[in-house]
Amino acid sequence: MFGDVSSCNTYNYGDALYWDSRYIQEAGGAFDWYQRYSSLRPFVRHYVPTSSRVLMVGCGNALMSEEMVKDGYEDIMNIDISSVAIEMMRRKYEFVPQLKYMQMDVRDMSFFPDESFDSVVDKGTLDSLMCGTDAPLSATQMLGEVIRLLKPGGIYMLITYGDPTARMPHLNRPAYGWNILLYNLPRPDFKRPGGASLTKSYLEPIPITEKGTLPADFVLEDPDSHFIYVCKKMDDTGLSNIPTYPLTSEIL
Ligand SMILES: C[S@@+](CC[C@H](N)C(=O)[O-])C[C@H]1O[C@@H](n2cnc3c(N)ncnc32)[C@H](O)[C@@H]1O
Repeated sequence: MFGDVSSCNTYNYGDALYWDSRYIQEAGGAFDWYQRYSSLRPFVRHYVPTSSRVLMVGCGNALMSEEMVKDGYEDIMNIDISSVAIEMMRRKYEFVPQLKYMQMDVRDMSFFPDESFDSVVDKGTLDSLMCGTDAPLSATQMLGEVIRLLKPGGIYMLITYGDPTARMPHLNRPAYGWNILLYNLPRPDFKRPGGASLTKSYLEPIPITEKGTLPADFVLEDPDSHFIYVCKKMDDTGLSNIPTYPLTSEIL
């Protein structure tokens, strides 16, 4: 798993050939980066209605989309730059009409018309681009496409290892006009020192400072935890506020 810039230098996560050879080696297996759907479910179900038309960018061979369908999601378009992953997933889910697969570069999704999706879910794909050559340009191209494809009021959910210092400069461009909520989730296998219990609820959003950083007094319990950025596109009224009623882990 990559968690810092030095790992980016070891593997070429921005390169389609790297991913093709990785998926050939994985020979039809499944792997979910960072978190499984069960841990993300409170966030996904809270912000992405099951009737949404969802775009899963950089789906890889993860079980995330399959698990979303089992949870009631009706329409998930999955794209990935790796033709190996896409062919494999297309065969695997041939008889699951809620899941569709297309080989595509997230930086150019011109195949889809503007405002085609209610929600875009990204687990680890912006992160991969940030490890490639021309990372800032790739991030701008990708995020420009994501905002174009979202309907007014739509949600881009980014699940990443990148803290706000690394991700907000890319997300917070005035042209996008996102309203952003931030959450932090420990790794699934994270153990608190001495088995101590949670000091705070991970279902509470974390305030982001004016400078786009974590609050000075914010303590990361797990230094290798993941961040969830819930980015809402402005709706037709020019508003992008996200209602702040509390999340619960028991979403029906
Ligand atoms: C870290 S993996 C995450 C896979 C999956 N989302 C998950 O959560 O397990 C990143 C994925 O992004 C894909 N990817 C990398 N660059 C891409 C690009 N420019 N366009 C589309 N997909 C890309 C890779 O092929 C890979 O499947």
